[in-house]
Amino acid sequence: MSAKIIDGKVFAATVREKVGTHVARLKDEHGITPGLAVVLVGEDPASQVYVRSKGKMTVEVGMNSYEHKLDVDTSEADLLALIDQLNNDPTVHGILCQLPLPKHLNEDLVINSIDPAKDVDGFHISNVGMLSTGQKSMVPCTPLGCLMMLRDHHGSLSGMNAVVVGRSNIVGKPMANLLLRDSCTVTIAHSRTKDIEALCRSADIVVAAVGRPEMITGDWIGEGATVIDVGINRIDHPEKEGKTKLVGDVHFESAVEKAGAITPVPGGVGPMTIACLLANTVTACCRANGLAEPEGLTA
Ligand code: GUN
Repeated sequence: MSAKIIDGKVFAATVREKVGTHVARLKDEHGITPGLAVVLVGEDPASQVYVRSKGKMTVEVGMNSYEHKLDVDTSEADLLALIDQLNNDPTVHGILCQLPLPKHLNEDLVINSIDPAKDVDGFHISNVGMLSTGQKSMVPCTPLGCLMMLRDHHGSLSGMNAVVVGRSNIVGKPMANLLLRDSCTVTIAHSRTKDIEALCRSADIVVAAVGRPEMITGDWIGEGATVIDVGINRIDHPEKEGKTKLVGDVHFESAVEKAGAITPVPGGVGPMTIACLLANTVTACCRANGLAEPEGLTA
């Protein structure tokens, strides 16, 4: 059996289209333009690429993009003052502080200084708590994207056995909470899990988010299971000397033979993250203005 390939590029484009439609309605019917502020401290090249891409896509769906680029040696007090200003700016509905921050800045303190209602990353401790207690909150973008793809493929996830491999705060834990909320039976597996292969083989859904290139091979996957690969790992190209290639946490070529559906890397979960950031911004804007939330764009 060869799996259905879940095309994240196509799916992300449909999410952005839905966001664009909702943004147009907010402008036409209410005179409101959602605004996303992105804060970048320093000049990390990968972060610069992400921030540029976020800004471009924000504008493409019709929202306002506010970029704040700060010096690498910006003090914590200055960064907190900027966040306070954005928290109090009614034209800003979403705030994202690009991580990682330079070492001298306390990441937890900075993230928790963002107004939880504008925390489009869903990293604020109060959003984490609300997600884990099943309350309406801002949900981290990558797990939200995975959930959207799973719901699209399966319809209802109720009663399915899901194994999330990886226990990070950004992906593994919120993913597990979202699947639990959709009535899956959820196990979080990690580096100390006993017989992790058999555990994964027993799952209807495997979400791989460990950051280890091609760790999960086809013999870990149950016949017909759905595999969502969150990993993005750059490795030396096996055939082309001096070149590199992107691979996931799943060994695609063997897993595709066992799975019922699978996301590729690149072109799977990756494009969904920014699409969900835009979705979260429009959701935050609707909530801030007491308006109906966009359907199909929230958890
Ligand atoms: N750095 C890499 N990915 C992310 C993300 O999703 N959010 C933030 N704030 N920083 C990141």
